[in-house]
Amino acid sequence: MGFSADTLRDRVAIVTGASQGIGRAIAVELAKVGAHVVACSRRLPSLETVAAEVRAQGRQALALACDVGDAGQVEEAVARTVKTFGRIDLLVNNAGYRIRAPLEDLPRQEWDAMVQTNLTGVFLFSQAAGRVMIRQRAGKIVNVSSVAGRTGSRGMACYAATKAAVNVLTQSLGAEWAKHGITVNAVAPGPVETEGVLEVWKTPAMIAQASRDVPLQRLGRPEEIAWAVIFAASDQANFMTGETIYVSGGPRVANRED
Ligand SMILES: NC(=O)c1ccc[n+]([C@@H]2O[C@H](COP(=O)([O-])OP(=O)(O)OC[C@H]3O[C@@H](n4cnc5c(N)ncnc54)[C@H](OP(=O)(O)O)[C@@H]3O)[C@@H](O)[C@H]2O)c1
Repeated sequence: MGFSADTLRDRVAIVTGASQGIGRAIAVELAKVGAHVVACSRRLPSLETVAAEVRAQGRQALALACDVGDAGQVEEAVARTVKTFGRIDLLVNNAGYRIRAPLEDLPRQEWDAMVQTNLTGVFLFSQAAGRVMIRQRAGKIVNVSSVAGRTGSRGMACYAATKAAVNVLTQSLGAEWAKHGITVNAVAPGPVETEGVLEVWKTPAMIAQASRDVPLQRLGRPEEIAWAVIFAASDQANFMTGETIYVSGGPRVANRED
């Protein structure tokens, strides 16, 4: 792996949805390249485990229970980060929620839950942390969207729509906050084996099919997404903003050879 322990030395990073899956990997990989990590999600005991993994890398960690869709809790998490570390160098909006259901059967409350976590949560955290970054005149935001935001997804139309919205929010905010010294980029994973995904693909046959649909013929590993986040958060990406990096195992195409 090509990053050094100095790549993000002493940067202060907030990672949402850090209690498992890709968010956990982002938290731990950020610590390996020198960052201090504030791990946020709703389940504090799982976050404490991740915080211990960060500390095991010799970095500081804070575990904060926070629902990204709740403006008060988001404000509180940002305030506690600033109180503890004095600044925010990086915000990774990773928390996500999805269910698989035909649109004709999707309950309204599930639609609202996906929009609230996947899109409103990105707005609330970006606004609260962005105000701190604007005062600092520096900062980086990395949104974890999805390849589904480009291709759409049968059975997950709402989820795909929220991720497409995140990609365009990234583009707009990247342009809007460039004048403040803030970059805003997105990393769009393809299928990655995580606890959350295994709840959606309930059978080995569904997992095997998902792997076959990927041109590289396998699921991604959470660390492979974290490494793209580290690049977008590093000084090596200073000339990049408003962009979406796809880490998807290859682009989906309409026709298949087999
Ligand atoms: N895995 C994939 O194949 C894949 C593909 C493309 C994109 N992505 C995206 O990558 C991100 C992570 O995916 P994953 O597969 O690692 O997810 P996951 O295993 O389902 O974990 C979701 C994480 O988000 C947190 N979360 C959910 N709702 C929240 C809320 N309202 N407030 C705060 N935290 C919340 C959960 O923690 P708590 O339960 O503790 O709150 C958990 O840590 C998501 O944005 C997802 O859409 C994943």
